[in-house]
This record gives sequence, C-alpha cells and structure tokens, in this order.
Amino acid sequence: MTNSVPPSSSGSSSTTGRSLAGKRILLIVGGGIAAYKALDLVRRLRERGARVRVVMTAAARQFVTELSFVSLSGERVFDDLFSPTDEGAMGHIELSRDADLLVVAPATAHLLARMARGFADDLATTLLLATDKRVLVAPAMNVRMWLHPATQRNVAALHADGVYFVGPAAGDMACGEFGPGRMSEPLDIVAAIETALQGDTRLPLPAGLHGRTPAPARSLAGRHVIVTSGPTHESIDPVRYLANRSSGKQGHAIAAAAAAAGARVTLIAGPVALADPPGVEVRHVETARDMLEACEAALPADIFVSAAAVADWRVDVSASKVKKQPSGAPPTLVLRENPDIVARIGARKEGRPTLVVGFAAETNDLIANARAKLERKRCDLMVANDVSVDSGVLGGEANEVHLVSARGVETWPRQDKSKVAAMLIERLAEQLRRRQGAAGEPPIAEERQ
Ligand code: C5P
Repeated sequence: MTNSVPPSSSGSSSTTGRSLAGKRILLIVGGGIAAYKALDLVRRLRERGARVRVVMTAAARQFVTELSFVSLSGERVFDDLFSPTDEGAMGHIELSRDADLLVVAPATAHLLARMARGFADDLATTLLLATDKRVLVAPAMNVRMWLHPATQRNVAALHADGVYFVGPAAGDMACGEFGPGRMSEPLDIVAAIETALQGDTRLPLPAGLHGRTPAPARSLAGRHVIVTSGPTHESIDPVRYLANRSSGKQGHAIAAAAAAAGARVTLIAGPVALADPPGVEVRHVETARDMLEACEAALPADIFVSAAAVADWRVDVSASKVKKQPSGAPPTLVLRENPDIVARIGARKEGRPTLVVGFAAETNDLIANARAKLERKRCDLMVANDVSVDSGVLGGEANEVHLVSARGVETWPRQDKSKVAAMLIERLAEQLRRRQGAAGEPPIAEERQ
C-alpha cells in the first residue's frame, strides 16, 4: 500500500465543483489550535458535495464546539465510545466502515502516537483501528514536537502501515516559533482527499520533516555540532558599522542539515535576515569577539563548522557619532585585528572538536589559498568557494565548493546550498565515524584541479 498525497495540488480544489459528490468522509478532529481550520474543511467538503460525519476527541472540545460542527456538517457529532444509544443505532465498526475515507485533521503528536501504537481508548482511535478504509492524516503541532524522534518514528510507522499524509506545512506557528508543523490549509487537505479517494497514489513518503523527501539517516545522533554563520558587524560609532555581504544561507543550511541528521546543533549566527532553523539552538551575536565567546561557551563539540564571514578587523569604536569636520578632512579609522575564531578552536590543546572545518571564500587562487588556510588555521577540512561577483555565490542560492584537506581536493558540482549542506554533513559524519573508530582514513579524492 502506498500512501502520500501531494499537499500542493490544490489547483483542482480552488474552484468549487461537485468533485466529491456522494463521497462519505469521516472527519476525526484532534485537540489542537488548528481545530478551527477543521470547521472550514467541513464547509469546503460540503460545498463539493461530500457528506461529512465528525468525530471529536475530548481534547478537540477544548478548542472548538460541537455545535459549530453540527451546524456546518448538518449531522450530529460523535464522540462517545460507550454510548448505548449510538452503539444501538450505529456501532463504531459500522461508523468507521460507512465512509469512503477517514480524515484526521488536525492530527496532534499525541493522537499520532496513539494511532501508531494501535490504541483504542476513545471513539476516534477505536474507529481508526476498526476501519478497513483509507486514512488520511493532516498533522499539526509545534515544530519541535514534529521534529522529535518519537514523532518521526510514529509517522514512519504509520506511513509503513499505509496511512496517507498531507503536510505539515512550514511557517509561523501559533506558539511563536517557525518551521514545519502547521496544519495544511483546508483547500490543500481537500486536494489530498480527492487524490486519496482516487486510490492508487504511488507517492512513496509522507510529507514531513523535510518537505516530501525521506527523513535522512540519523548519522549524527548523539553528536554535538557547532556552526558559525553570517557576517559580523563591527561598530564604528553608535550608528555605523563595518560588515560584509555574507547572507548566512550556507551556514544556516549546514546547521539545519546537522539537526536533520540527528545532531544537537548550536548555531552561532551573526546578523542575518534568515529565520532560525528548526530544531537548532541559536545564539545571535554581532561582533567577532562576541562570536568567539559564544563558540567557546558552546564547547565541547564533535564538529565545529566555521561558515561565518568573520570580519578580520574591528574599529576603535567612537562613543559618539563621528561628525564631519569643518575642514572636510575624512575621519581616520584605526583597525585592529580580530581574533581568528576557527584558528583558536583548531589550535586548542584541550577540548578540540574532533573535526574542525573552515571555509575559504576567495576571489583568486582558490585552492592555493585554501590549502594555506587549512594549515594556518589547523583545520581538518577547508571548504573552498569562489566568491567573486560573477560567481553569484554571496547571497545566492547555489554554491560550488571544493573540499580541501591534507589528503587532496574534491570538487563538487554547483548545486543548491541546502544540497551542499546535506552532502557536507554526511561526509563529516562518515569522517567522524572513521576517526572515532580509529580505522584510519582513505584519501577522499584525487586532485581534480
Ligand atoms: O582568513 P579568512 O577570513 O579567509 O578565513 C576564512 C575562515 O576562517 C572561515 O572558516 C571563517 O569562518 C574563519 N574565520 C574566523 N575568524 C576570523 C576570520 C575568519 O573564524 N576572524
């Protein structure tokens, strides 16, 4: 049985037609803030000709009223497993089978857990266990709950059992966080219902943690990874600063990939216009010295990835705004060298992370410069990339990198920064296993420059 439906195919449902005429939907409403969207879902389904019977969990009643569902569905609402009148009129087996599709929306983490374990401790779970029909689930929960390994295990188990999924979507959440966990919009759920009713939807995986791609192997489970990302700002005076064009996209993508691989991740981020990646502990800093302090405070770690474009110099800060001189003479900025964060981490006698990775962003002599930095900064690996204006790397979505280590140079094709991040994390996980397994490392690649 295959079981995932595209949440994005809402095109067919954005226009009201009788696309669901005569279809019988049993809608199980779980107890989450997204339950209010289930009201709109009922309306959309009815508009398309479906008959909708609603089952509410006890928790759902904390968020929406039975009366609202009765009004919108035109049917009574079911919720009692032990009602003698219900069992007389229509038993739970019959209720679950007198439907073309069971839809769980919103499906909370708790409801998914009960479904995955086969609980039958209320009417909703009993119906889900007793049914011989397809089940479509629209998860809705806090991003960390969704990313938790327990929820992932439950989703994987349900998927393996043949349950269909729509969403969750990523975005701002009611709890103030950002990431995957929002229930799909009603029209997307309608589209998924239409697809699920067609039956043979051969999409292999539930929409999930990482869009609709498989959850990656948990190759860094139990590891701690520190990543620096973005530029630093070095104040000149209270209103001005020195900065650079780093967007933080590559560093943030590496932090997200490490979290997806199961690591505990500390991201030390300079000032960027990016959302904090889900499942990552983020420390926001401004200057190179703040960044160094935050990095040292975050140790120990297994892997340190220095993707930030740290300012090499800072300015002697003026306490008040620097004014134009009547003479027109420009002010003199006295620059002082900043600490080299990755070099300090790489040179640590105690508590040096097993793998220290630097980035060499260069506009010329890329590999030679990266090699020199690898040695000078005592890194295990330098990720070299061309940041000349023509390359479009700074601020762009794609990156072409060369992995430079004592064992050679490996060039990866130009690809999306998230792909670079995922590949880098898998490479580092492999090297960590080898190092810690003391098996010795084979050369990563022949020189291809
Ligand atoms: O010397 P350069 O700035 O090109 O070196 C780049 C590498 O060194 C990057 O990994 C960057 O994060 C790191 N770096 C640092 N502290 C500095 C300057 C660079 O950690 N002050």
